[in-house]
Amino acid sequence: MSKNIDWANIGFGYMETDKRFVSNYKDGAWDEGALVSDANVTINECAGVLQYAQTCFEGLKAYTTEDGRIVCFRPDLNASRMSDSCKRLEMPVFPEDRFVQAVVDVVKANADYVPPFGSGATLYIRPYMFGSSAVIGVKPADEYQFRIFTTPVGPYFKGGAKPITIRVSDFDRAAPHGTGHIKAGLNYAMSLYAIVDAHNQGYAENMYLDAATHTKVEETGGANFIFITKDGKLVTPKSGSILPSITRRSLMVVAEKYLGMTVEHREVLFDEVKDFAECGLCGTAAVISPVGKIVDHGNEICFPSGMDDMGPVTKKLYDTLTGIQMGKIEAPEGWIHVIQ
Ligand code: PLP
Ligand code: COI
Repeated sequence: MSKNIDWANIGFGYMETDKRFVSNYKDGAWDEGALVSDANVTINECAGVLQYAQTCFEGLKAYTTEDGRIVCFRPDLNASRMSDSCKRLEMPVFPEDRFVQAVVDVVKANADYVPPFGSGATLYIRPYMFGSSAVIGVKPADEYQFRIFTTPVGPYFKGGAKPITIRVSDFDRAAPHGTGHIKAGLNYAMSLYAIVDAHNQGYAENMYLDAATHTKVEETGGANFIFITKDGKLVTPKSGSILPSITRRSLMVVAEKYLGMTVEHREVLFDEVKDFAECGLCGTAAVISPVGKIVDHGNEICFPSGMDDMGPVTKKLYDTLTGIQMGKIEAPEGWIHVIQ
């Protein structure tokens, strides 16, 4: 039985659900893992995650389709991106097939929290891993914990699909040759000062430029950028220091194969941004959130699509992507993983 939650009015926050998946790595091997009820984690005061931020995470969503199934979107890509994060952080990989199975198990165990079709909410799934054993010299921990919890969520930005205003950040999120492409706790910690400062000044997010030259568009704190040119092409930044967004990679296929658009995945100079017709942020949490205005130290870039509504091309991308995710539009082979 679906929980009695006011789905249409939940924001993007944490709500404890019934079960979470936990597996421990010790003596060079992962245990079989289990679904547990306790939402709290107890670890040593000197755990690798607490001292040297040895941790990474993933994010994906489960959806109820119109015909009542529960599905998730491309979990294999989250599994493989998490492997990449783990390798870069000297953590043991949780086997990718077991990752996908654990996602299925934990969503099934919390099926009552998967919001109904058309409610505007979804079940956010958060796999993560951290060094759990004590480590005082700068080196990797010996023991790790892999966990997955779920929480129902609404829109990431207040106002749902209404365009947001963002600003060009003065603060870098990652070092010039840093680990921005790894979905790791430390990168996000490095963005917290900038996000609090942006919010205090009335902006919804930061546009980070490349840390080496501050001339190229990278991403925001939690999403990649998409731009639409005046002649209807999709342009999206290519950079080794941004997160390889699964939503962005999927949208490139949707644009080309479903909407017949030309797609350019390339370096994007900040100087070009004023010439685009539409701008949006894309990600699991952001879905596609339209950007109406970018403020660069007092200079405003306003997109012709305006501050009131999502631009027309962004809207087509949004409708097609969410239509695929919610089972209304036929998905490319392998994109939809049926849970139950
Ligand atoms: N960029 C950052 C920094 C993110 O945190 C996220 C969210 O995971 C994304 C981009 C979007 O990635 P995805 O589409 O895989 O959720
Ligand atoms: C996601 O979209 O899954 C993210 O991780 C973005 C943010 C909530 C951290």
